[in-house]
Amino acid sequence: MCGIVGAVAQRDVAEILVEGLRRLEYRGYDSAGVAVVDAQSNLTRIRRLGKVQELADAVNSEQVSGGTGIAHTRWATHGVPSEVNAHPHVSGDIAVVHNGIIENHEELRTLLQERGYVFVSQTDTEVIAHLVEWELRTSETLLEALQKTAAQLDGAYGTVVLDRKDPSRIVVARSGSPIVIGLGIGENFLASDQLALLSVTRRFMFLEEGDVAEITRRNVTIYDQAGKLVEREIIESNIEHDAGDKGQYRHFMQKEIFEQPMALKSTMEGRITRDTVITESIGVNAVEILKKVEHVQIIACGTSYNSGMAARYWFEDIAGVSCDVEIASEFRYRNFVTRPNSLLITLSQSGETADTLAALRIAKEKGYMAAMTICNVSGSSLVRESDIAFMTRAGTEIGVASTKAFTTQLAAMLMLVTAIGKEQGRIDAVKEAEIVEAIHALPVQIESALAFDKQIEALAEDFADKHHTLFLGRGEYYPIAMEAALKLKEISYIHAEAYAAGELKHGPLALIDADMPVVVIAPNNDLLEKLKSNVEEVRARGGLLYVFADEKAGFEADESMKIIPMPHVSEITAPIFYTVPMQLLSYHVALIKGTDVDQPRNLAKAVTVE
Ligand code: AGP
Ligand code: GLU
Repeated sequence: MCGIVGAVAQRDVAEILVEGLRRLEYRGYDSAGVAVVDAQSNLTRIRRLGKVQELADAVNSEQVSGGTGIAHTRWATHGVPSEVNAHPHVSGDIAVVHNGIIENHEELRTLLQERGYVFVSQTDTEVIAHLVEWELRTSETLLEALQKTAAQLDGAYGTVVLDRKDPSRIVVARSGSPIVIGLGIGENFLASDQLALLSVTRRFMFLEEGDVAEITRRNVTIYDQAGKLVEREIIESNIEHDAGDKGQYRHFMQKEIFEQPMALKSTMEGRITRDTVITESIGVNAVEILKKVEHVQIIACGTSYNSGMAARYWFEDIAGVSCDVEIASEFRYRNFVTRPNSLLITLSQSGETADTLAALRIAKEKGYMAAMTICNVSGSSLVRESDIAFMTRAGTEIGVASTKAFTTQLAAMLMLVTAIGKEQGRIDAVKEAEIVEAIHALPVQIESALAFDKQIEALAEDFADKHHTLFLGRGEYYPIAMEAALKLKEISYIHAEAYAAGELKHGPLALIDADMPVVVIAPNNDLLEKLKSNVEEVRARGGLLYVFADEKAGFEADESMKIIPMPHVSEITAPIFYTVPMQLLSYHVALIKGTDVDQPRNLAKAVTVE
């Protein structure tokens, strides 16, 4: 789930490992640890509850030396966050780090206890350490012991093992949790994400499902699930910026909110002309596929799900293609019916979300015409396993709360629906040009939304002492309200819900009182009059209203209703525009509350477990 880094080198690696963990901090974690072996087989293991900085301080003060090591940031799934449960886990000479979950850990624990192993942690991971220790007794090599171990493990994992007695190598297994090998000169590395290794190399090999590999200073040997020796392609990483830098900003989330005009430009680059969408730029065979598509099934989680929900309106309205959107963890466990000529689309910032990936794998067996992913991380599992990867190119997103990934997904989908509409003759050149013009205007439009920062900062004071907030929208602004509520709860820990404004009278109106701020997203569109009636329903019951309204929408402020007048923007891209003030609101409320904005409690950036 969280971070893994490993190294086999001649130089001391403790600092490289800790730096790698630091670069993975954005994923969210609760504890961190490192184990390093020197050439004389002395093993030093240090673990700390809390931040990587505490581990770094401990590593510095103990002056850990050794050229072979493994390190981990843990996001607890089995056993409380504590030093004892932090990885690496040790059994005899074996040290292990692990991402993910071992589902059959209870049976294995019982078996291993019968063999005399004493468990010191509550984690599922510890069974791996003991199993490898056990298997090594009857194996020629550490790799063989890991292969035998992997064959007994159920679940999703990436795991790395070292043997104190043989510091020349580390071994690794990938099954459902990403592992990348970083190639150096006379030294090699591995990690759960290439970002961790950008300070030491740019040459990477991605392990595939079921791969087991041995890494020494000079060689990388990989075996596939069937035990066959395989080669994996070497990829030169072109990730441009070093994600580790906040620049002038206080938080990564803030930086990423403000980067959106740039991120959106990069999403559009090479994909639109002055007045058309270039269908071919969406991916191989896109023209052929998009001509035929009759139905779109979107699958995603969290923020990505919200963007799918918003885009659904466009798929049906602009492209004239029916569209269903479903949460991946639900989709994967039900019997679904595949519609004829249905295009499957997974949406994901990370490309590694376990539920989305599992849903993709299941769906691929069920007769979809093609699987497309709209994703932000190249080389990720979703990208590699889909027929078409339509990259959002937002740049690395570090804040756990997703921001620029959301708006760039929306921009990508707007281009996609326009391409479908065009290829199927549902929209004419005039309509296409109108949409493309709106897309071109997005970066400037978003700049104008960012200019509300100070005003929203002042408004945030009203929310910081509240326990609940309601967000209302109609049409495609309902999913935008859902995203606003998710942002607020994630980073400020204020309970927030979104409702389609018309649904208010069917229940939630009972909640309205002077302690319940109600945020309304009110662009000047066809539904404005309906929305105004909903606002009146709240006002009549003494609710506190905050209306982000188009300046021409005609709302009037009074003591129970604050109006935040927004410039009029194209109706087509307005959902993307109205997302930005919502992001700023949650950011400023969290700042006032003093929460950990970039790494909110209990959350992880890439959810690679179920
Ligand atoms: C977003 O703020 C969340 N932290 C979370 O809901 C996230 O969107 C979800 O886990 C899906 O992630 P993905 O886009 O990387 O698949
Ligand atoms: N399941 C393991 C644990 O709870 C690993 C968690 C992780 O992926 O960080 O220790």
